[in-house]
Amino acid sequence: MENYIAENRQRFLDELFALLRLPSVSADPAYKSDVLATAEATAQFLREAGASAVEVCETPGYPVVYGEYLVSPERPTVLVYGHYDVQPADPVELWSSPPFEPEIRVTDIHPGGAIFARGACDDKGQFFMHVKAFEAMVATGNVPCNIKFMIEGEEEVGSANLAWYVKRNQERLACDVILISDTGMVAPGVPSLTTGLRGLSYVEVEVTGPNRDLHSGLYGGAVANPINALTEMIARLHDDRKRITIPGFYDKVETLSEAERAELAQAPFSLDAYKKALDLVDVAGEAGYSTMERNSIRPTLDVNGIWGGYTGAGAKTVIASKAYAKISMRLVPHQDPDEITQLFSDYFVSIAPAGVTVKVTPHHGGQPYVCPTDHPGYQAAVQALSDSFGQKAVPVRSGGSIPIVALFEQELGVKSILMGFGLDSDAIHSPNEHYGVANYFKGIETIPLFYRYFAKGLRA
Ligand code: BES
Ligand code: MN
Ligand code: MN
Repeated sequence: MENYIAENRQRFLDELFALLRLPSVSADPAYKSDVLATAEATAQFLREAGASAVEVCETPGYPVVYGEYLVSPERPTVLVYGHYDVQPADPVELWSSPPFEPEIRVTDIHPGGAIFARGACDDKGQFFMHVKAFEAMVATGNVPCNIKFMIEGEEEVGSANLAWYVKRNQERLACDVILISDTGMVAPGVPSLTTGLRGLSYVEVEVTGPNRDLHSGLYGGAVANPINALTEMIARLHDDRKRITIPGFYDKVETLSEAERAELAQAPFSLDAYKKALDLVDVAGEAGYSTMERNSIRPTLDVNGIWGGYTGAGAKTVIASKAYAKISMRLVPHQDPDEITQLFSDYFVSIAPAGVTVKVTPHHGGQPYVCPTDHPGYQAAVQALSDSFGQKAVPVRSGGSIPIVALFEQELGVKSILMGFGLDSDAIHSPNEHYGVANYFKGIETIPLFYRYFAKGLRA
């Protein structure tokens, strides 16, 4: 196995590069044909790796790529999930090299080089590790489990059609565990397993004042200004301890015991390095919680975008008719996205100042997820990571969301193991996204070990 990977090292990189050259931006309809081409390319790579029944499955949105390799009904079945779509690359001018022309550059954190491209880490580089590990297993006659692949194309826009697909393909997707590499490691070289993901409620708000844009001298002070109103309302969503003021918002929030908090605090973390990496004078967040807790076990509310009025060159004296914002709330276990969206909506409408009307439109959401550390899949991942890194994996709660994970649990009754190899500094969703070459190959080496331990049910 190691030999096969070593001999094919360059090709494994070249093929990933080919995938990264396809701009599969699911959010922007302008890239539709590229997204579809990426689904086809993914299917072709699965076929070449040795998968059968490979299919680009239609959905009401972008297709799901399916493939399988069934060795025996006696053996356990692992479903690999990943996504071939990527975030938009903009602002493109902030990239040091074009986002869809991958290149390897050395960085402080990646002395062995990192692949710079949109999707390098999230998630093409990570799901492709599974395709290459699978190829190596097939080529060396070493497949201890039934393996199924399901690679989707709408993760970055909320996986809206995935429930549709999963409900119609329950049998095809039947498995004992789901294995996903779409998360990160706590620090370079420190193997990590993500034991929790936050949920998400995402809303757009529209505040309307007068029926047209007005002269700010003739009307200013006499009518409500929607931008003033919106910013006032947003300011009221947190108190001075940075707690969210929406009534009922915290009612169901899971409280961790002091012991659990102490365990999470074991993960390596340097506040200085964190501030330095982001050029921050100081961190900010909910009083009474550490930075790591604030971005994992606590729910949050953030404005993701805000617009309205005149933002062009020079000055235009105007009171806009409308102002808008996009707001995300990251949720923790037991908080329900639909319920939170309703609580937000009721409260936001209730705090509108006189003279404006407010409309709240829900976007996508997702349930939070927790993975029990005594799950056989989790244990297999611990063993695999110990073997390949020579040290014990650290359990981490992540602040990010992968809505499908809770859906898999609901629809298939199966837990997902989140074994990711990215780093926070890999700049996913940002300009100059990259993925360590060493991380890529570490993943390819670790994945076959996972199957081996999972098939053995841990009998070493
Ligand atoms: N892979 C990320 C989520 C992630 C990254 C989890 C790092 C943990 C560590 C995923 O592609 C993503 O970006 N998810 C979105 C969800 C959304 C679009 C519904 C997110 O978290 O914003
Ligand atoms: Mn992802
Ligand atoms: Mn993402």
